[in-house]
Formats: sequence, structure tokens, C-alpha cells
Amino acid sequence: MAKEKQRNTFAEDEMLDQEFNKEQLKKLLIYLAKYSSKVLMALIVILVSSLANLVTPLIMKFVIDDIIPGHDIKGLIIISTIFIAIIIISSICMKFRIRFMSEVGQSVIKDIRTDIFTHIQTLPFTFYDNRPHGKILVRIVNYVNSLSDLISNGLINLIVDLFSFIVALIIMITLDFRLTIVILLFIPFAFAGITYIKNRQRKSMQEVSSKQANMNAYIHESISGMKVTQSFTREKVNLKIFTDIMDEYQDKWIESRHYMALIFPLVKNISILSQGIMMIVALVIFKGNISPGVVVAALGYSGNFWMPLLNISEFYNQLVSSSAYLERIFETIDIKPEIKDKENAYTLPAISGEIIFNNVTFGYEKDHIILENFNLHVKSGERIALVGPTGAGKTTVVNLISRFYDIQSGAITIDGHNIQDVTINSLRSQMGIMMQDTFIFSGTIIDNIRYGKLDATDEEVIEAAKTVKAHDFIIQMENGYNTEVNERGTRLSTGQRQLISFARALLMNPKILILDEATSSIDTQTEKIIQESLEKLLVNRTSFVIAHRLSTIKNADRIIVINNKGIEEIGNHDELMSNQGHYFNLYSAQIKFLKENVK
Ligand SMILES: Nc1ncnc2c1ncn2[C@@H]1O[C@H](COP(=O)(O)OP(=O)(O)OP(=O)(O)O)[C@@H](O)[C@H]1O
Ligand SMILES: [Mg+2]
Repeated sequence: MAKEKQRNTFAEDEMLDQEFNKEQLKKLLIYLAKYSSKVLMALIVILVSSLANLVTPLIMKFVIDDIIPGHDIKGLIIISTIFIAIIIISSICMKFRIRFMSEVGQSVIKDIRTDIFTHIQTLPFTFYDNRPHGKILVRIVNYVNSLSDLISNGLINLIVDLFSFIVALIIMITLDFRLTIVILLFIPFAFAGITYIKNRQRKSMQEVSSKQANMNAYIHESISGMKVTQSFTREKVNLKIFTDIMDEYQDKWIESRHYMALIFPLVKNISILSQGIMMIVALVIFKGNISPGVVVAALGYSGNFWMPLLNISEFYNQLVSSSAYLERIFETIDIKPEIKDKENAYTLPAISGEIIFNNVTFGYEKDHIILENFNLHVKSGERIALVGPTGAGKTTVVNLISRFYDIQSGAITIDGHNIQDVTINSLRSQMGIMMQDTFIFSGTIIDNIRYGKLDATDEEVIEAAKTVKAHDFIIQMENGYNTEVNERGTRLSTGQRQLISFARALLMNPKILILDEATSSIDTQTEKIIQESLEKLLVNRTSFVIAHRLSTIKNADRIIVINNKGIEEIGNHDELMSNQGHYFNLYSAQIKFLKENVK
């Protein structure tokens, strides 16, 4: 049996373990600075609550050493009231702290997401050409989520923990210096143990999140490609890929929990051991010259030692992991859009639609030229049909007019304005572009038609739909124009999708129209409708039509055959037919095909 060739691109992990990077943290702090007043308030309530907690052992000492031996009932009542007050104060503080910090955390996350989203909308096609879309998704969703905890808890907790640690230490020293030394002796051991386990845990957590990123990216792609999967009955193979990814995720997850399970017992044991030894020291060595209250209070404070230590190491870990996420996030934000307005770009005035390609050379990659010294002068209102073999560069030509890619040399001008000198917005808003793969967004049909001109009235939308003959099929749907279509418009036929994209373009009333038609064949009935719609759409506009239907091509003012990095033939139908070149062959072949199939 032939060996199955199946490379799983989703098994490639992103590298997440790296040195902690101060620069990334600085960028995060800039986001945080906007909310500094809230952070400050949170800090104040936390300090109040931890101060309240810190005095409890002192009160215990007072109760044991003074109140109980003195049978002071009144004192006991006062102390109990203080106790209750402390509990109430600290829970109120806790409530506010959670509220303030979640607000800050979520606001920062929203700001970062807004920035990424705004930014990725400016990124050129090349950005999307080069990476799995699922992985872009992961950055915006998962990685940003992972920061939430660092922002909401990490930074603030660090300050509080350092604070409690120091205050507890000072109180202990004033209570009894000798007992403090006993506790301090344990710190190096605790620190070494915690650091060791935490480092391990961090690495495995990073692996978990990178496995999770793989999983999300794979699910995303699987859903997008489900139809192909089912058509090619690839379900089993894909399930295997998916379960492999999940197995890896599960292994890493269990491993990380394993470390997590170790850390708490470790701290607990150290804490109990240190308290035990403290008691032995107090009872055996300092026998008699230490008050029971002091011992109880010291035991209480010793409990306050270990949690902050654990939290501080936790914070360090969070910082290191987040550093990797931050880098991925800021890396995306920092990608410079290659295609952007020049500094002194001006608004393209209302155009008539004359387009000139002057010695244009272009390749998606620098050393792989697709169009070389391409020259073309299109008069305003002219209809151009682009034909040529697949992969010749037809879509490329029209991509260049809308400046989806920048050319390597030469110039493209519209009404004498170099498209590099005008703002992208003013350029694209004067063009109607119907791409090879019509994208329908989830929402209603009317919203989809209105996509490029949000202020269009319902009447205008219906008028546009009528003109391109989309109206009839739309009103037959269950809710007419308000029928919900899902993302990609899968419940519409190819022809219907195309008619909607016609209406969408018509509504913009652009001077330049670009239609990149999919090769897929459409039934003759729909074909006739599309043909008629197209004729209406193209009136009074400069148009580039990449069509596969001969009728559309025949009606063009000029037909351009693109081949071998440039124009192979140019002229109207009759001229090209008499040339007996590429177009002649193409046309003859299609006619032959039609005749054979009509029979
Ligand atoms: N985003 C891209 N990145 C790199 N190369 C690309 C990209 N898009 C297209 N190409 C390459 O550029 C060449 C021209 O592609 P183009 O899409 O313009 O062909 P086309 O004439 O429109 O073909 P079709 O009739 O199949 O739509 C092809 O060889 C293709 O491999
Ligand atoms: Mg194409």
C-alpha cells in the first residue's frame, strides 16, 4: 500500500518560550496608563484589605496574652466587634478590587483588540496570502485573552504581596526576632523548590497554549473547508489529524496540571514544617521566656509568608509567558502596511475613468515577474475584456488598478493621477470590484447589497437589484430582502451570489467597474440573466471584465489576451478572429464545445 503522504502543518508550534522582554511590558504599561486612576483605586482598596488581614494575628496575641488571662469580657466584645469589622471591610474591599481590576483588564484587552483589528484591516493582501487565517484568529482571541490575568491580577497582586510580605516581616521582627530567624531559614529552600516547579510548569503551560493555538487553527480551517472535505471523503484522515493534535494538547495539559498539583502541597508542607519547627524552638529552646500570644501571632504571620512568595514566583511566570504573547500581539500590530497613503497623498477627484498602464512591471515576489513592461491605454467608458490561460495574470492586472499590490516599476494613472499619489480610500471608493470569489457576509440580503454604501435607502437597494435582475429571486426567498444568509452565502447559488455582487457594485455607481468572474459554469437560464444584468451594469463605465462567457467577451470594445507576462493580442472580436491567433483558437474551441454539447 502506498505510504500516505500527509504533512500536518498544524503540528508546527509557535515558539513561546523566550527571554522576558522589557520592551513588550513597556508597551503593555502604556495601554494600562490610560486607566491609572482605576488602578490606583484598586491598589488602595487592596492595601486596606491586606492591612486589615495583617492585624489579625496581632489581635490574637492581645487576646491570648491580655484579655483571656484578665477575664476582660468587655474587651472581648470590643475585639470581636473589631474582628467582624475587619472581615466586613476586607470583603467589601475585595469586591471593589475585583470590580476595578476586571474593568481595567477588560478595557485594556478591548483596546488591544481594537488596535489589532484596526490594524489588520490596513494590512495588504500579501499579509493574508502568507499565513493560515486560523493563526491570525488565535492571536486576536487567545493570546489577548491570556493577558487578561496578568493585567487584572498579576501586576496588582505583586505590589500587594510584596507589601504583605514586608509588613508581616516587620511585625514579626518586632514581636520576636528569634522566631523570625527560624522562618527566614526556610525561605531559600522554599524559593528553590517553588522556582524549580514553577519553571517546569511554565514551560508546559506554554506548550499547552501553543497546542491549543494549533487546535483552534485546525478547527477554523476544517470548518471553512468542510465542503471540500466531505466531497473528497477526507473525514477519516482529518479526524486522525485532529485527534493527533488533541492528544498532544491533552498530554501537555495533564503535564502542566501535574506541576500545578505539586506546588500547593510543597508550599503547604514548608509552611507546616516551618510552623512546627517554630513551635519546637519556642517551647523547647526559649521555654518560659516567650509569651503564648507571641507564639500564636508568629505562627499566624508565618502563614502570611509563603503565599506571597508563591504569588511572586507565579507573577514572574506569568510575565515570562505573557512576554511571548505580547511579542506575537505587538508583532502583528507593528507590521507596517506596505500599501498605504503617501505622506502627501491627495483625494482623487471625481474621475471619468481613463486608465493608463505605463511600462508596468510587477511580481508577487520580487524575482518572479508576472507582468513585464505592460502598456495599455483604456479610454474612459471603454469596455475591456481580459482573456488568457489560467495563471496568466488577468486577476493580477485588475488587482493592480485597485492598488491591492504595489507595482515594481512603471506607473498606473487614472485620469492622469498616478494611483500611488492619491489616497487609497478615494481611489477604491470610485471603483466597483466584483472579485473572482464573491464573498457574502452573514446578515440579510439587503445588508449585503448595501455593504459598500451604508447610506443607501431601501428603495435605492431595490432599484439596484431590479436593474441587475436580482430582485425576482430575492423576493421569492422566505423573507425577501430581509432573508438571512450565512457567511459565504452558501444558501445562494453561484449565479445568485454573482447577481448580489452586481447589485452591490451598482449601488456604488462607480466610474470604473472590475468584474473577475469565476470559471464555474452557470446554467443557460441564469447565464442569460447575468448577461443582461451585466450589460446594464456596464453602461457608461470604464470596465475590465475577466469573463469566460464568449457573449460577454464578444461585446467588449477591446479584447486583451494576456499571456507570457504581457499582452499577446489586442483588438475587437472581428480583428482578433481575422488574426487567427490565440483568441481565434480559444473562440473556435468554445464554439466547438458548445455545438457538441448542445446536440
Ligand atoms: N497572492 C499571490 N501570491 C503569489 N503569487 C500569486 C498570487 N496570486 C497569483 N499569483 C501568481 O501569479 C500568476 C498570475 O495569477 P492570476 O491570479 O493573475 O492569474 P489569472 O490569469 O487570473 O488566472 P485564472 O484565470 O485562473 O483566474 C500565477 O502564476 C499565480 O501563481
Ligand atoms: Mg483570476
